[in-house]
Amino acid sequence: MCGIVGYIGTRPVLPLLVEGLRRLEYRGYDSAGVAIAIDGVLAVYKRKGKVRELESVLPVEVPGTVGIAHTRWATHGAPSDLNAHPHLDATGRIGVVHNGIIENAAELKRKLQADGVVFVSETDTEVLAHLIAGRPETSLVEAVRAALRLVKGAYGLAVIDAARPEAIVAARKGGPVVIGVGDGEMFVASDASALMGHARSVAHLDDGEVAEVRADGFTVLTLEGAETTKTTLELSGDAAGFDKGDYAHFMRKEIGEQPEAVRRTLLGRLDHRFSTAHLGGIELAAREMLDIRRVKILGCGSAYYAGTLGAHLIEQLARIPAHAEPASEFRYRNPVIEQDTLYIAVSQSGETFDTLAAIQEVKRKGGRVLGVVNSVGSTIARECGRGVYLHAGPEVAVVSTKTWTSTAVAFALLALQLGRVRDMSAGQGARLLSALSALPDQIAGIVAREAELAPIAARLAKAEHAYFLGRAAGYAVAMEGALKLKEISYMHAEAYPASELKHGPLALISAETPTLMVLPDDDLLAKNLSTIAEVRTRGGPVLAITHPGVVTEGVEASFAVPRSEPELDAILLNVPLQLVAYQVAQGLGRDIDQPRNLAKSVTVE
Ligand code: G6P
Repeated sequence: MCGIVGYIGTRPVLPLLVEGLRRLEYRGYDSAGVAIAIDGVLAVYKRKGKVRELESVLPVEVPGTVGIAHTRWATHGAPSDLNAHPHLDATGRIGVVHNGIIENAAELKRKLQADGVVFVSETDTEVLAHLIAGRPETSLVEAVRAALRLVKGAYGLAVIDAARPEAIVAARKGGPVVIGVGDGEMFVASDASALMGHARSVAHLDDGEVAEVRADGFTVLTLEGAETTKTTLELSGDAAGFDKGDYAHFMRKEIGEQPEAVRRTLLGRLDHRFSTAHLGGIELAAREMLDIRRVKILGCGSAYYAGTLGAHLIEQLARIPAHAEPASEFRYRNPVIEQDTLYIAVSQSGETFDTLAAIQEVKRKGGRVLGVVNSVGSTIARECGRGVYLHAGPEVAVVSTKTWTSTAVAFALLALQLGRVRDMSAGQGARLLSALSALPDQIAGIVAREAELAPIAARLAKAEHAYFLGRAAGYAVAMEGALKLKEISYMHAEAYPASELKHGPLALISAETPTLMVLPDDDLLAKNLSTIAEVRTRGGPVLAITHPGVVTEGVEASFAVPRSEPELDAILLNVPLQLVAYQVAQGLGRDIDQPRNLAKSVTVE
């Protein structure tokens, strides 16, 4: 999705804006641009395509120290140089970068055109520039507030006026905006990751707030004009997460970072004395945990699939009925919200619009929601107010790898804590604690054997369609494995519960359609082997991710992961599927870190 970065201070602004745009590339975009205030006018450079294409038209040096920049993900108007942001008013003084959609843009545009305003782009954003320019008599922040009161829709935006370069004005309704605080300099961004290594701390704007950001500080007002106080959060995190190092892709780097990510998810949360987990941020007393009758998990994409495994873990370990549902669908079916249900929202970015809307629906109806979130201080984390941070570190590749694994581990911790309040014995708890502690080294061992996965990847790469099958927790792994392959190889991969095969998809099994079986050595093994036999009888090639010692007769290629405890096996079974998807996509020459049409965090409906 679109990205915003802005700077006001004393340093030359252009290199800072370009660096910020590069940090935001991972969100997915189709054009980029910058506007810099120089001697009362805006110097504007915009290009369709990647940041490197924008860089090819940028001057080596530009004198300005105030500017805004944007990566655009087209909604209104095709990707083009003209539709790229920043958008300007007729005088070229006011520059606007905007994430989101102005719903009444057509109506506002007609009115402006009737007053003689000429539009140069097809975007909804240009309307904002003209509306703001229509009030030259007031300060920039007043002009922005007045313009936004006319606007319906969602936005995160930053505005500069070349004639009054003392401030950048930022505003939020629906689209995330953070203000970064430095030494004698300030930043604006849609995502704190753009500011790592520069800003010391950040303040997150809330919906309906407008900020005037000066080099020496900032003031926040509501759209109605009331002043609000913001607290700043220290910007922790490692800028190295945004550097590919020696890796060809962030995805492969992040697959390799999983042992470290899991260690951080576990850090300080294993309570050996009472053989349980301790998640302080969930703020649930034992008594409240006992009162939970049901758990409902909400997330989108990989977060939903990690939540599916989470539901399985909670049901198995804590014996509480648990179910995951796509957050994107939830609010459309007028869901029943129950007082004794614990709702859990899962999100890597903490900014996914559909997940946020689902949380708001739960809260509106009086439900309580915990967040399982990677991005500290993000909108979803703040909206939930309590939950579990993954601490997996920045994930830059569009597709989720280390955060899927860390989310699954966070659910294992939660399930353990809920289980130990209920019927789980100390012995069972201790067994799971030691299995959790072993996961990082086991994951490292799997990643080190990536070359052994080449036969599986090669067989999949030859096909146009593939089935991924699994039972129970294995089905959650099959769903995530198939999604990974789809997202980065563009191959059609469909996940099915193995037991459903004969109720339809068996009709499509042929020598051209490989089936990848998630085949743990658990009490469903015999059932899964029967499914394999059914596929083989129809001439379908079978591949398997399994455990050592499982006899896989008739299976064309297989890979065995080390055993964990049966409840946690799924976490390890997923890792080879990440590497398989990576290898297939690499063989096909795909744009692995930024697959076509996809965005890292989808901040619009
Ligand atoms: C997008 C991404 C997916 C991600 C999903 C949820 O669709 O392309 O990779 O799983 O959003 O993102 P979140 O940040 O909420 O986990």
